[in-house]
Amino acid sequence: MLAIDLRSDTVTRPDEGMRRAMAGAEVGDDVFGEDPSVNRLQEVAAELLGREAALFVPSGTMANQVCLRLLTRPGDEVICDRTAHLVRYEGGAAAVLSGLPFNLLDAEQGILSPEMIAAAINPDNVHLPVSRVVALENTHNFGGGAVYPLGTVRAIQDLARDRGLALHLDGARMFNACAAAGYTPAELAAGFDTISFCLSKGLGAPVGSMVVSSRENIHEARRVRKRLGGGMRQAGILAAAGLYALEHNLDRLAEDHARARVLAQGLDELPGVDIDPARVETNIVVMDISGTGLEPQEAVARLADRGVGVVPFGPGRLRAVTHLQISDPDIDQALATFRQVFRNKNA
Ligand SMILES: Cc1ncc(COP(=O)(O)O)c(C=O)c1O
Repeated sequence: MLAIDLRSDTVTRPDEGMRRAMAGAEVGDDVFGEDPSVNRLQEVAAELLGREAALFVPSGTMANQVCLRLLTRPGDEVICDRTAHLVRYEGGAAAVLSGLPFNLLDAEQGILSPEMIAAAINPDNVHLPVSRVVALENTHNFGGGAVYPLGTVRAIQDLARDRGLALHLDGARMFNACAAAGYTPAELAAGFDTISFCLSKGLGAPVGSMVVSSRENIHEARRVRKRLGGGMRQAGILAAAGLYALEHNLDRLAEDHARARVLAQGLDELPGVDIDPARVETNIVVMDISGTGLEPQEAVARLADRGVGVVPFGPGRLRAVTHLQISDPDIDQALATFRQVFRNKNA
């Protein structure tokens, strides 16, 4: 049992208020479009992002894949960062479900620039896949929770519009981006064809993600979701948790960011740990521990033995994520444990 579980912001458990909201939810058959709680969540999500319509889906992966399916034909190419979630962590879904090759770019902390994208767009040539979609991830998970400045998003949107490309936002943690950069969800969402966001990460719901787009796209998305097996029945019990999360857990995300910064500053003082606290903008802390002489798996095991959960995150790297069940004392305790493990590698 991990006393301080920093492996992900997906490990949160519903609190009493959320459980009460779930237990009392009005429900109906959502495949018939008759679940009032799901319908309400979809309206709230669309309104929050300033868009026409939204669809409740079981996971962030399904949300991303429904969006890609909407925007492409088999053989079209998706331009995105090499470490994007929809490339690395979705089981090859884009290739299997939609027949999509990727054009992968190497961006600092996963944040693409319009220049990189412009250089990557294929000319009209029968040998080449058609560059159809640009996918941004904000915040960027593998990039250590990095945030897109709004100006960069707008410049990329201008380019995509000029060149006839569609735009998808993997906004699994878009509200963390908003809290860190100071833009609103509607400002961030404007100009994307499709947006996915997760209720089950920093917002603390047990299940669920949203696809947000135009009314026409969401109509088609319902069909794609059904085809993928994501049509749910009395899903209002889950939607109620999402509604509760949007109502209660949005405004507190900056607390997670502050705790992540404290954690990063403490880690920066440890011998052999390479981390730049200035790059910790949101709730994700990525550190390079090569200098400690411990392999990531070994460090993870030793930290876990002492009750602190983190995950290996690429060669030499660990990831720790703050969330609504991590307190200030937890951060102090986690740092004390990191000190023990990294000071004494034979401990
Ligand atoms: C950036 C990003 N997008 C999408 C997902 C997929 O979400 P899920 O695990 O609900 O499928 C994740 C999950 O961690 C993520 O970090």
